[in-house]
Amino acid sequence: MPERVMECQRGKGESMFVTFEGIEGAGKSTMMNLLARHMRAHGNTPVLTREPGGSQLGRHLRAMLLDSRQGALTMQAELCLFLADRAQHLAEVVRPALQAGQSVLCDRYIDSTLAYQGYGRGMNLDELCQMNLIACEKLLPDLTILLDLPVQTGLARAGRRNRKEGTVISEGRFDSESLDFHERTRKGYLELAAREPGRIRIIDAGRDADAVFADCLAVMENFAL
Ligand code: TYD
Repeated sequence: MPERVMECQRGKGESMFVTFEGIEGAGKSTMMNLLARHMRAHGNTPVLTREPGGSQLGRHLRAMLLDSRQGALTMQAELCLFLADRAQHLAEVVRPALQAGQSVLCDRYIDSTLAYQGYGRGMNLDELCQMNLIACEKLLPDLTILLDLPVQTGLARAGRRNRKEGTVISEGRFDSESLDFHERTRKGYLELAAREPGRIRIIDAGRDADAVFADCLAVMENFAL
């Protein structure tokens, strides 16, 4: 991935763009909510958002992408829908917030496409990087927190959450992929982190929430809180 193009040296008290990545059930939204609460307590109210589904168009796309009743979707069509979601979300939500001086905490972004469509589905990584750059207008995150945990643990957690929220069918298309698919995705994330250790920080998410949160906070201490 090329250097962040909209590069700006962010100092203490300035806005930041942080993305959260990981396989199903990694606990991204729990950590984002805890971090947002901590940031608010320190006078920095972040925008919490997600992909897919962070814009109005994205909410339609999310339903198409995640509903397990969705008929066969080719991997190319799936990719284009994720990228359309990203382009609209970037223009409507992420960039305006950063320009207004707000920090953005985003659940999934460019690395999800590389991990899932690249390592998971087997699409060409160089081509995906190029397409990602078009969709995100070369705006890379300042920091990416990769919540890593064993696939079986993540899938069990995601299954419990979906049953509780009644979203097993409406959001279950990826959860029902093979174990192999999820293992490739996890391995892909770890490879991406090894390639960009400055931006992507790995946190062991197989522990209890307090321990994971403490590590997330420590990682974010280099930024404005
Ligand atoms: P989401 O509900 O965000 O994931 P989680 O279950 O971890 O909370 O679901 C989004 C799904 O879409 C997830 O399985 C990953 C997948 N995805 C891609 O395959 N490519 C992408 O570019 C993005 C943003 C998500």
